[in-house]
Amino acid sequence: MKIWSIFTLCIFALTADAQIKPASIIIDASNLRIKINKNIYGQFSEHLGNCIYGGIWVGENLKIPNTNGIRNDVVAALKEIKVPVLRWPGGCFADEYHWQNGIGPREKRPSMINTNWGGVTEDNSFGTHEFLELCRQIGCEPYFSGNVGSGTVQELSQWVEYVNSDNSSPMTEIRKKNGRDHSWGVKYWGIGNESWGCGGNMRAEFYADQARRYGTYMRNYGTNKVFKIACGPNGSDYNWTETMMKESGGFINGLSLHYYSFANQKTSADFDEAGWFNIIQSTLKMEELITKHTAIMDKYDHNKRVALMVDEWGTWYAVEPGTNPGFLFQQNTMRDAVAAACNLNIFNNHCDRVRMANIAQMVNVLQAMILTNEDKMILTPTYYVFDMFKVHQNALAVKTTIESPDYILGNQKLPAISSSASIDDQGKLHITMCNIDPKSSQPILCSLNKFNATSVAGRILTAKEMNAHNSFSDPNVVSPKTFSDAKLSAHHINLTLPPMSIVALELEGSVELPPAIELKEPKSGVTCKYYEGQWSFIPIFDSLKAKRTETAEQFIIPHNNSGDNFAVQYSGYIKILKDGSYTFFANSDDGAIVTVDGELVVDNDGQHAPQEESGTIVLKAGFHPITVGFFQAGGGKVLDVSMEGPGMQKQIIKKEMLFHE
Ligand code: AHR
Repeated sequence: MKIWSIFTLCIFALTADAQIKPASIIIDASNLRIKINKNIYGQFSEHLGNCIYGGIWVGENLKIPNTNGIRNDVVAALKEIKVPVLRWPGGCFADEYHWQNGIGPREKRPSMINTNWGGVTEDNSFGTHEFLELCRQIGCEPYFSGNVGSGTVQELSQWVEYVNSDNSSPMTEIRKKNGRDHSWGVKYWGIGNESWGCGGNMRAEFYADQARRYGTYMRNYGTNKVFKIACGPNGSDYNWTETMMKESGGFINGLSLHYYSFANQKTSADFDEAGWFNIIQSTLKMEELITKHTAIMDKYDHNKRVALMVDEWGTWYAVEPGTNPGFLFQQNTMRDAVAAACNLNIFNNHCDRVRMANIAQMVNVLQAMILTNEDKMILTPTYYVFDMFKVHQNALAVKTTIESPDYILGNQKLPAISSSASIDDQGKLHITMCNIDPKSSQPILCSLNKFNATSVAGRILTAKEMNAHNSFSDPNVVSPKTFSDAKLSAHHINLTLPPMSIVALELEGSVELPPAIELKEPKSGVTCKYYEGQWSFIPIFDSLKAKRTETAEQFIIPHNNSGDNFAVQYSGYIKILKDGSYTFFANSDDGAIVTVDGELVVDNDGQHAPQEESGTIVLKAGFHPITVGFFQAGGGKVLDVSMEGPGMQKQIIKKEMLFHE
């Protein structure tokens, strides 16, 4: 046992918790390859209760301070947590929503009955333009949920045209009359919502074809490319995922997953420890769901091209007494904060497949960030979890291995500790941890592999009572505080997580990167070996004899090629000027792969039309071995290899960066 380990264990032996074995979290920064997509921190806003009306939209003439009808206080709070993406207009509402009723002069817009949510009259005063104005004010990307259940292919196709086209067309002329000259360029589009339920009660086989059909006419306009998100499974409906991936996996970019933790009979703050346990147990099932749906998706899509988008998740209780049962208004307690932290840790740890998640919902509905009452606004414990976790957005995921003691209640148990970690583009290491046990504190020994830490700072969210919450009369009961009890020693951190607490640590320091290579006499260009033959995947070049070998300035398909049925392997060194995280891209037709330092960074293998894949690696300044493999199997031929990194916008890899010896 190393000296520091003895020292560390001695500290724990002397504490009041001497009999408790510390939980171990190993933070391994040795293989930093995948970014935590910032859209995991996405939100959802539906025409439901007071989410849109009252919570966001107050119209232009009311006393509540607003900009273009949108509440200033709510927007300011949402900007603070860096909301990256917002899904709208539903939910179940989306499959009854006819977007053309929500454009043009507000006084002329037809109304409808919101049959899903309280049977209230929807006057359509908040529509496409208002939603996109909201996204502009927050600084987030919009995500439209299209109507498949009661709409038509033409209607959805025209919505995409109205929003994304810059051509002159009937749709764009209407848009211009409504005050918007240029397209907005909305990327994310859902093909229906819960098509297995409120969105049409379809069978998986039927919906798989509908997704292909509707998706076909959701066109790309110019550079405005549509990212098509099909309706995915309800919780553990693995057959739905299997059918969708088999029948329509090749036609979509994302598959959604909806999963809620319910305690229907009880309001959000009315529970005992069994109620706490049940909700957290149900929340932690997200780990199993994602693992199993991912395994099915991997069978059909080993490159993980299709993203899993958890575009509805959260806790769902009985509504607050005296409120409309159709409005789903609930309070938000420390239990919800712990549930949110567990989910976000799970999403971070599965970020190779989970590339968006949208908590339900943003304001005044279900597990909300914000509650409003007339001109008053409060921030919930869940809001503060999003605030503490926002540091993970677009940071490189760091592998965490947890050995956790159990949280035991009666004859049931759960792992007490949940955690995830990432390294941001400033090189800071962020570790988020949660102790789900409402009664016992948990000593933690965090070991850092390949990260030299120089300082640690932290924030904590905790409470004395399980059902502690913020109210309009007492808005600051649960809010984050400074946490200075983490002790840093060499490659370790010791801390104790109080009962029911969430801690976010920020460590300054540096990643121990593998050294760059020293080249004695670097010469410009890379070695290019040309092969002929028929392949469906990149061949194993070592087992083949090249037809010729030459030097290439860049990764460009040699002009002198047989037209079809050939392959090329480039090898050499890339010169990196600055330590940091670099993303490589290969846009190819047919397959291409890129390795750096002997690691497969981009896998765009297989026979296909032009498509781009990317991958990230952290590199030290200096020379690094790089190879690019490419094969052509008939039809078009394309190969563009580009990269981006510190101080470097995405660009084709220039000849000045490529060398051989
Ligand atoms: O978020 C509330 C509802 O839950 C959504 O409208 C629906 O998609 C889901 O069932």
